[in-house]
Amino acid sequence: MTSNDTSIKEPLTETKALTVEKVLSVKHWNEHLFSFTITRPDSFRFRSGEFVMIGLPGENGKPILRAYSVASPSYAEELEFLSIKVPDGPLTSKLQKIQPGDQVYLGRKPTGTLVTDAMLPGKRLFLLSTGTGLAPFLSIIRDPDIYDMFDKIVLVHSVRRVSDLAFRETLESRLEGDPLVEDEAKEQFAYVPTVTREEFHTRGRIHQLIDDGTIFQDTMFNRKYFDPETDRIMLCGSMAMIRDFEAYFEKLGFIEGSNSSPGQFVIERAFVD
Ligand SMILES: Cc1cc2nc3c(=O)[nH]c(=O)nc-3n(C[C@H](O)[C@H](O)[C@H](O)COP(=O)(O)OP(=O)(O)OC[C@H]3O[C@@H](n4cnc5c(N)ncnc54)[C@H](O)[C@@H]3O)c2cc1C
Ligand SMILES: NC(=O)c1ccc[n+]([C@@H]2O[C@H](COP(=O)([O-])OP(=O)(O)OC[C@H]3O[C@@H](n4cnc5c(N)ncnc54)[C@H](OP(=O)(O)O)[C@@H]3O)[C@@H](O)[C@H]2O)c1
Repeated sequence: MTSNDTSIKEPLTETKALTVEKVLSVKHWNEHLFSFTITRPDSFRFRSGEFVMIGLPGENGKPILRAYSVASPSYAEELEFLSIKVPDGPLTSKLQKIQPGDQVYLGRKPTGTLVTDAMLPGKRLFLLSTGTGLAPFLSIIRDPDIYDMFDKIVLVHSVRRVSDLAFRETLESRLEGDPLVEDEAKEQFAYVPTVTREEFHTRGRIHQLIDDGTIFQDTMFNRKYFDPETDRIMLCGSMAMIRDFEAYFEKLGFIEGSNSSPGQFVIERAFVD
């Protein structure tokens, strides 16, 4: 047998930076996208919106680690992640094959800027995502604090194909059955999915939905434009989308926030290119 044989599953060893966790469930959304849950160590604390390193052993035994946004809420007993499948990607070509019972590495130190600590208080919160950029927002929208901080939370998810709309049913139901935020979400949460390369009820990139007013439809205020006084923005997705929106919001007078200096919009590059 060769070292590539996936039937060989040597137990992983914890390190100073990494714990070893067990895969609990895996869901494949389509041939490009899957999500999985793993055990959560008691010591693992994170703020909604943060990311952490996830990994598997490489050929030489050294872990292959990549950044992943935590998709589960901070109160959940398990940790959930949403992942791309890059056909020849060093990590995801292997990670996409994990099954319940397998082991993965988990970084001990979550971090990130897509957190409410990096934002000034406001009234409307817009979470703008493309592709797997949805992941941190799945955590944020289930954080009870967010419903105290904002009157309205609008999650926009732009994808190429309808089957890329991961967690669509949960989001369309406005988080029905959520143990903590079900009632708040019914009133305050809006989900705006958009598909750019297939037929769907809402089509076009996020810019288009801003221009035609679609993303403001459900926001209680009759204001179909962004206002730096009351609107707060979180951006997560491809580099190109982030770059475009960074320039867009700065032109509107929004100031980027960080953990040490809260602002009116915050970003995380969910993948680089
Ligand atoms: C802060 C941060 C948070 C991240 N969170 C997530 C997450 O929650 N889910 C997730 O799937 N990935 C996330 N990523 C990307 C992730 O770290 C890896 O790049 C991804 O898992 C692919 O790993 P790989 O080793 O297979 O390929 P890599 O060598 O890392 O990537 C190969 C190429 O695949 C493309 N690519 C990589 N990741 C993505 C992606 N997510 N969507 C579209 N194209 C991609 C890019 O073109 C990249 O150059 C995040 C990255 C950063 C920096
Ligand atoms: N999802 C798929 O069906 C699919 C199929 C084949 C390969 N892949 C591979 O998977 C990788 C990731 O694909 P993905 O679909 O997750 O991510 P993606 O290509 O970034 O597309 C996700 C969404 O972001 C939009 N978008 C892209 N650039 C933008 C920008 N500058 N501003 C605003 N919106 C922007 C896309 O619209 P547009 O459609 O208009 O670009 C799409 O709606 C790709 O590199 C590709 O190699 C994916």
